[in-house]
Parts: sequence; structure tokens; C-alpha cells
Amino acid sequence: MINNSIAYSLLFSIAKGDVFGKDQPVILVLLDIPVMMGVLEGVVMELQDCAIPVLREVIATDKEEVAFKDLDVAILVGSMPRREGMERKDLLKANVAIFKSQGAALEKYAKKTVKVLVVGNPANTNCLIAAKSAPSIPKENFSCLTRLDHNRARSQVAMRCGVPASHVKNVIIWGNHSSTQYPDVHHCKVNMSGSEVGCFEAVKDDAWLKGDFISTVQLRGAAVIKARKLSSAMSAAKAICDHVRDIWFGTAPGEFVSMGVYSSGNKYGVPEDLIYSFPVEIKNKTWKIVNDLPVNDFSRSKMDATAAELVDERDTAVTFLGE
Ligand code: LMR
Repeated sequence: MINNSIAYSLLFSIAKGDVFGKDQPVILVLLDIPVMMGVLEGVVMELQDCAIPVLREVIATDKEEVAFKDLDVAILVGSMPRREGMERKDLLKANVAIFKSQGAALEKYAKKTVKVLVVGNPANTNCLIAAKSAPSIPKENFSCLTRLDHNRARSQVAMRCGVPASHVKNVIIWGNHSSTQYPDVHHCKVNMSGSEVGCFEAVKDDAWLKGDFISTVQLRGAAVIKARKLSSAMSAAKAICDHVRDIWFGTAPGEFVSMGVYSSGNKYGVPEDLIYSFPVEIKNKTWKIVNDLPVNDFSRSKMDATAAELVDERDTAVTFLGE
């Protein structure tokens, strides 16, 4: 769905090669609701006017059978936003309907190899519903976006250490893309003047890393909304590009990134049948949970708290699936 500023930023980045490379021809298929078709036509015109050589075609549609036909990658950006007076349950119910329908359309029309990234909130549970509604597409092909949280954590540490974000690697976001997520720096490394040191040693402020750092990342989405009166768009689009590019080309040796993925078979004791954010390494377009990291008691309780929230969301959401 195109009706938002995340997609508006994202389309240009994809078209100019930030995700699939500068030489890979792309066809963009834009799906939105019927009332947005006029606006979408304007976006199509703008994309044409960018005169980008690899952008071969732009298709705008309000029909799922057109939008999902033979897709290689589906980025599901739109969802029902929470409005005033709406209970969490109402929001979940509306989103279950959307993601059930999009999952069913993927099942029917997309390639079985399609990679599906869910961005619209509540992203983890929406992703789970889409995956459940597309039983013939492997569960491993579905993921939800926590790269924005990952990037936020990376940048907070980088700013604190006075180094570029590229000098900080292997932060982890565990769990839900919500305020219960756990941004973890126990395995993070910072390149300080050419040598790689642990994050705690680099930052030299354990109280900050165990306190304000965590809450800043957890509440960053809300802080941006408060300041901008709009939710994160530019940074969300950048995170989507990072996420899909890593699926396409793989992660750098010795580096992992955070992605919401199917929890089944994980070695961290996270309940099965959730889309939970883990550290993952990616090779040949396939992610693998980095399963052997030690977890201390501090981390354990935070990982469990966000898992409990996801179990609760899932259990509520599946009650709406049959409706
Ligand atoms: C974010 O993390 O910026 C968003 O998910 C916040 C929101 O609710 O739109």
C-alpha cells in the first residue's frame, strides 16, 4: 500500500538501486485502496519523471490479484493505524482482516519463492497472520521489520562513542516491534580508533546502557510521532532498504542484523509459533538465527517480557482468524 510517506520514500530508493543494486532492472507494483488511485497515479508519474534506467515499469492497482501476481518481493507497508478511542483489540481485529486477505492473495498469486516483509503495525503479529494465511509459502519467507529499531540502537551507541554508525555492529533487537522490545548490546562491538572493543568498554557508562539507552530505543517511534506529529517515514524506508538488501545479498561476515522471523526451533527458549525479532545471519537469501549467544539474567527477563506480549497478541489475533 502506497498511501503513506514511508512508501513514498521507499519507492525512490528501490527504483534507484539501493536495494537490488544499480544494474538490476525492477518493476514496481503499487497496491492501494480504490479511493487512493488518483493519488497513486501522481506517484507513478513522478517515478516515470525520475527517468531511472533500471526502472522498467510501474503498475498501480487496487486489485490484489494484479498486485501479488508473480511477485519476487512483497513489502507490506500499509495497515490499520490506531485511532483515538480504539482499543488494542479493535486494531488487531482490523489488521487480522487485512493481513489474512494479503496472505491469501500471496498464496494464490505470488511465486512460492516470494520474500515477504511486513512493516505495518503491529508488524510481528500482522506478519504471523499473513504467513498463516499463505500455507504453501515457506514460513521462512516471511519477516517483519525491526531493522529500524536496530538502526536506532546502533546510532545511539555511535553518537555516544563519537564514531560513525558503521563502526558499531551486532546490536540486537529481541522480540516485538513495540515498547517491550529489548535492545541488547551485550554482543555489540565498537570500532574505536581502529580496534574493536565491546560496547560496555567503549561506552563506559553501564547505567546508561542498562537504562536510558534501552528506553530511548524502545520509545523512539513515539518520540518521533510526538515531535513530527507523524510517524517515522524516512528512517523506516531506509530500514526497509537495509532489511531487503541484506536478504538479497546477505550479511557481512561476522555481522548479524535484527529481523522478526519465525521463532520455531530457536535455541533461546522463545515460544514457538511467533514472529519474534532475533539476531540473524543471511546467506543465499536464507536467514539463520544466531543461536549460540550467551544470555544473562538481565537479558533473559527482558526477552521473556516481550515474548509474553507477542503470545498475548497472537492468541487474540488468531481468535479473529476464523471470522
Ligand atoms: C516506529 O517505530 O517509528 C513506528 O512503528 C511507530 C508507529 O507506531 O508508527
